[in-house]
Amino acid sequence: MVLLLGLLLTGGLYAAFAPAQAEQADTSADQVAKGRELFLVGCAFCHGQNGEGVLTERGNTQLGPSLVGVGAAAVDFQVGTGRMPMAQPGVQAPRKTVAYSDEEVAQLAAYVASLAPGPAIPDAADYSIEGLSADQREEAIVRGGQIFLTNCTACHNFEGSGGAMPRGGYAPKIRGVEPKYIYEAMLTGPQAMDTFSNGNLSPEEKRDVIAYLGSINEEPGYGGFGLGGLGPVSEGLFAWLVGLGSLVGFAVWIAAHTTRSTKEKVEA
Ligand code: HEC
Ligand code: HEC
Repeated sequence: MVLLLGLLLTGGLYAAFAPAQAEQADTSADQVAKGRELFLVGCAFCHGQNGEGVLTERGNTQLGPSLVGVGAAAVDFQVGTGRMPMAQPGVQAPRKTVAYSDEEVAQLAAYVASLAPGPAIPDAADYSIEGLSADQREEAIVRGGQIFLTNCTACHNFEGSGGAMPRGGYAPKIRGVEPKYIYEAMLTGPQAMDTFSNGNLSPEEKRDVIAYLGSINEEPGYGGFGLGGLGPVSEGLFAWLVGLGSLVGFAVWIAAHTTRSTKEKVEA
């Protein structure tokens, strides 16, 4: 039954969405109109018919915040990483399977951008270091490392492995995240993350951070156990459990194999 239901549902969804995907790239007014249709179906429940935000019945906390002025970059990040549509409001909007095609993400972004001016989706030229010479790349990585250390390690850990946040949330691991989404995360400050607007961290500084994060992706493992690169807590735990544990185990083993213990057994 479940299988049958699942098949019917996927079939139905496919029938509903396939024609839309088959259409060609459209003009921007068209894009906004299509984005609005998608928005009414998938997002308006939490963000309001016109993206104005929705209060819960108790009137205090928001089901979904206002999207007026968050810009195309916020939508591209949130929907492109699968965070939106959120399944239910909560402390964390984790990465999920992306629910929309690239084209639909662009349409949603165009619609939200049409509500009020906001940060645009960055261009590959904004964060790529392809055009730089080898020396300039090295410099960018070093600068990016320093910027990362002062601005990001508090939450994301020195290797970008992520860490816990107040109220049960967490800052995710950010190694291996696509450059565009790193840029957009800085630009829009999702959830508990600070916003690093261009006045705060210039586009070049953002590019340097991305170059740095790219460089730690390529860094080889230098042997030994990385322990997830989580730092002193996991390393300390490892030393206590495995290090001291094996010493205690060894001591017990010695005690069990001395003449005295065998003598006691004979007496008993
Ligand atoms: C105050 C803590 C905090 C600081 C400082 C911070 N972040 Fe974040 N960051 C977060 C949290 C929390 C999330 C998860 C948001 C969510 O799930 O919606 C996040 C998400 C991200 C993501 C998205 C990862 C993914 O899986 O899609 C990237 C990339 C990122 N941060 C990069 C940075 C960079 C680069 C800096 C420094 C310039 C930085 N962050 C500074 C807390 C922080
Ligand atoms: C179940 C409710 C829910 C649904 C459905 C939902 N959202 Fe959200 N959305 C939220 C909540 C809650 C937040 C705030 C997360 C936070 O910052 O803690 C949010 C945040 C956002 C943000 C970030 C706003 C900012 O200030 O940067 C964007 C963009 C967004 N949503 C877009 C969408 C789009 C587009 C859809 C439809 C595809 C959608 N959402 C569907 C609940 C929802």
